[in-house]
Amino acid sequence: MQSSQIPWWSQAVVYQVYPRSFADSDADGVGDLRGILSRLDHLSDLGVDVVWLSPIYVSPQDDNGYDIADYQAIDPMFGTLEDFDALVAAVHERGMKLVMDLVVNHTSDEHPWFVEAKQPGSAKRDWYLWRPARDGFEPGTPGAEPTNWGSFFGGSAWQYDEASGEYYLHLFSRKQPDLNWENPEVRQAVYAMMRWWVDRGVDGFRMDVINLISKNYPLTDGRQGPGEPYSFEIERVANGPRLVEFLEEMNAEVGIDERQLFTVGEMVSCTADHARAYTSRHHHRLGMVFTFEHVQLDQRTGKLTPNPVRLSELKQNLAHWQRALAEDGWNSLYFENHDQPRSVSRFGDDSPEHRVASAKALATVLHLHQGTPYVYQGQEIGVTNAGFTTIEQYADIEAHGMYRQLLAAGVPSEQLLDALGRMGRDNARTPMPWDGSPHGGFTTGTPWLPLGAGHETINVVADRAAADSIFEHYRKLIALRHELEVVRTGAFQLLLPDDDTLWAFTRSWGDEVLLVLANMSSYLASVPVGELPSLEDARLILSSGSAGTDVQTLQPWEARVYRLATG
Ligand code: NOJ
Repeated sequence: MQSSQIPWWSQAVVYQVYPRSFADSDADGVGDLRGILSRLDHLSDLGVDVVWLSPIYVSPQDDNGYDIADYQAIDPMFGTLEDFDALVAAVHERGMKLVMDLVVNHTSDEHPWFVEAKQPGSAKRDWYLWRPARDGFEPGTPGAEPTNWGSFFGGSAWQYDEASGEYYLHLFSRKQPDLNWENPEVRQAVYAMMRWWVDRGVDGFRMDVINLISKNYPLTDGRQGPGEPYSFEIERVANGPRLVEFLEEMNAEVGIDERQLFTVGEMVSCTADHARAYTSRHHHRLGMVFTFEHVQLDQRTGKLTPNPVRLSELKQNLAHWQRALAEDGWNSLYFENHDQPRSVSRFGDDSPEHRVASAKALATVLHLHQGTPYVYQGQEIGVTNAGFTTIEQYADIEAHGMYRQLLAAGVPSEQLLDALGRMGRDNARTPMPWDGSPHGGFTTGTPWLPLGAGHETINVVADRAAADSIFEHYRKLIALRHELEVVRTGAFQLLLPDDDTLWAFTRSWGDEVLLVLANMSSYLASVPVGELPSLEDARLILSSGSAGTDVQTLQPWEARVYRLATG
């Protein structure tokens, strides 16, 4: 490909800000836009290219802003449109781009569209998915829901509306009714809103659960496992027959490719084959997708019954995606976001002895894959899971919904709290620890969610002052991507695929070959020299800093990037 044809975002690194928890400028305990503005130098120091903001729109905050009541206004909790304009200008001044969260599978039930749609016979009735009770059932009684689907947050996916005697679909909370994308007026309203933000200076969109917008009609019962209260057969509502058509229509109507906008579609139940089709450079659909495959390896029987994941499974999964999108399409690379636990606690070792090294090892392997890497706020300083031990400490609607549902099904509370402590979304949502003060420099008020465990020592000031700073390691990785074509576009090959201790792969571009080698364990590991490309005359271009003198021994969580001597 000519470099003029390479989209700018395929050379970029993205930083995700969760506005509620980033920086609070007005002491109300909730982060805001002025707070983000005051901390932008942290991001430009890191060297990232794109800032993605989780939702800041007017919202009743049932799901922390993923329930939007006005798509074209800022929630007063976060500031004003003037604050937003100032933020966009400041981001652009620093040479970065700004990406908004686009949540259009559903609105809030307080959105004027839904308020109007609730009136039977109103012009907007068909903007949402209304269905009568199941045949032979009294509307509103148990079992009368139109299908047996469960919502992602627990309970039925259908809410009974007494006024009309019908049910509306909500795949998430009952305050997040699903929009009916089959209705062309809905689609045009969404595109007009997107154009409005682009005209205001926004550089693209992260699209929330975007492959749920085309559902498989008619809506009928799904498979239900024994003992399961509801069906979770996601295929019934994901990747529906009109998805590609809707994505292409959106692309054309908003001018996504024409204006070189950034897009990443969050997609549940999305395989690498789907991703290739959605991100193919021969079509005008999406820039990249977020898959869930690698972050669901430890949730085979559900989020609150986590199972251990082997390194070989994790790296083979990523390698599978590298292969699948090597010729066409594009990968996103992520371990963390506001829905996932902290990666250093999940895939690394968050003990004081190994936290720093394991955070760097994880960063090294991820950032050396091909694709667009994402850094989630706090990941760049190795923030760990929250350490919550009681249900009262959680604010997340999903945590409470799942806890209630499983408790009612007889799962002991200790087991659920242990699982939430490992997998719950609030692990990622604790306020950003900027310094070692009681509220971490996040707020001078009372934080909306307690700060995470260990923030007195795990914070930006402490990390940046440390000789073995994680931030500094991220900075180097990001700079390396900007500097080297081989990091951006080099072919990927996984080595030692079945090894559960070492993560090893090469990246090759022309004559240039990089070897990435990481010990993903808390023990010493020896380098199986005979099974790897020769290290003779190889140059170590990046290391996680703990390198011993013996080339053939890797310290716990030590990661190295070599440039091999070729030709
Ligand atoms: C995915 C978002 O990332 C998550 O936070 C949200 O709860 C659901 N979509 C519903 O919008």
